[in-house]
Amino acid sequence: MARIGVVGAGYVGLTTAACFARLGHSVVCADVDEAKVAALGRAEIGAHEPGLADLVAEGLRARRLRFVLGNAEALSEADFVFLCVPTPTGADGAADLTAVHAVLREARDAVRPGCVLVIKSTVPAGTTERVAELVDRPDVQVVSNPEFLREGHAVDDFLRPQRVVVGSEAEEAARRVVALYAGTGAPALVTGSASAELVKYASNCFLAMKLSYVNSLAELCERVGADIGDVTEGMRLDDRIGAAFLEPGPGWGGSCFPKDTRALLSTAEDARVDFPLLRATIGTNGHQAHRVVGMVREAVGGSLAGVRLGLLGLTFKAGTDDLRDSPALAVAALLAAEGAWLTGYDPCVTADCGPVRVLGSAEAVAEGADGLVVLTEWPEFAELDWPNLASTMTDRVIVDTRNLLPVEKVTEAGFHLVSLGRPT
Ligand code: UGA
Repeated sequence: MARIGVVGAGYVGLTTAACFARLGHSVVCADVDEAKVAALGRAEIGAHEPGLADLVAEGLRARRLRFVLGNAEALSEADFVFLCVPTPTGADGAADLTAVHAVLREARDAVRPGCVLVIKSTVPAGTTERVAELVDRPDVQVVSNPEFLREGHAVDDFLRPQRVVVGSEAEEAARRVVALYAGTGAPALVTGSASAELVKYASNCFLAMKLSYVNSLAELCERVGADIGDVTEGMRLDDRIGAAFLEPGPGWGGSCFPKDTRALLSTAEDARVDFPLLRATIGTNGHQAHRVVGMVREAVGGSLAGVRLGLLGLTFKAGTDDLRDSPALAVAALLAAEGAWLTGYDPCVTADCGPVRVLGSAEAVAEGADGLVVLTEWPEFAELDWPNLASTMTDRVIVDTRNLLPVEKVTEAGFHLVSLGRPT
């Protein structure tokens, strides 16, 4: 079993640390946030990530997992150090590598001979090879090992991954990193480091492209009298297209797709490669919130001024408490700008979000509202008591941007239901 250091206890770092401990390794996980390190030591993870708090508690009990303040221990005691620090969008759209560079500079003087530095943070193609120069130690290898963890499924995605990708110019070091995942049974792909880095962006951007395509298709369905549900069902039967990621929505969001699409476009521009598909993928998504607002405006009779709307769902997708780059909030901002009064309910959000006054239940946001807008696909919204909601509302309009609600039940309760890509 290996001694592993993990730098950064965000959702990727924490999942990596807890899951490697589960696989039997001895893990030290470092962060610069004192309060966070203290809370993690008590197995309080401070986020909604199914199974993760239990794994952290298990690792702490078994003494295979420790949380430390500052990077020194995680760097000096490990055979493998995983860098899991943020790479946000910089001013020019490219990934900002400040945090990665800082950790590597610190690692240069701190790590043991033979240590492998593993970049798990999402970094542009070519970074791993370039930053190896920052470390400048012939006895230390730097490899790329991108993560493919979905929020809300991170533990499962780590312990039962569809693939482990490791990229390096030093093949032996790459093989040693692959071996750390032995307990997962996942197929491994060893490549050059630029290819491994690109697998990550290529995958996320492909999925984003698929969604932008489906969202445009939904708009077209409305105009030609087709039903997006039937169209995508027909597409899904072709296994070259694949069954997943074909649900239309208010736009893709979260901490990854928006950042990664911009970063890959920036890489393409730097490399002087024209990538119109990627530009269109991003542009189509930017249009989506405006389109949803147009649908709501039309559904309530042409003007949003003074209209009281209840928003169902605020997070960027169901199964997470993450509000970063949430399309629901983009829609809310535009609705408020046109004069709508907004309340919202989300099972994972308690604090008010910008113009949205957050209430404790779907019933509370419906009371006295002119309309409801479903923005996140929390399954519980499909189970609401529609006749009861209808009886407390001023007007009975619902715009369902996730095509989640049971059409018959909702319309039988007297609602005017508008959904994406379906004839109304
Ligand atoms: C995404 C990728 O799926 C992970 O593989 C990757 O590791 C991660 O980014 C990352 O780069 O770290 P995540 O951001 O958690 O994971 O979100 P997804 O589940 O991929 O959803 C992205 C967006 O697409 C959400 O806004 C979601 O609502 C939307 N979506 C997804 C749809 O609108 N329709 C669909 O059919 C599927």
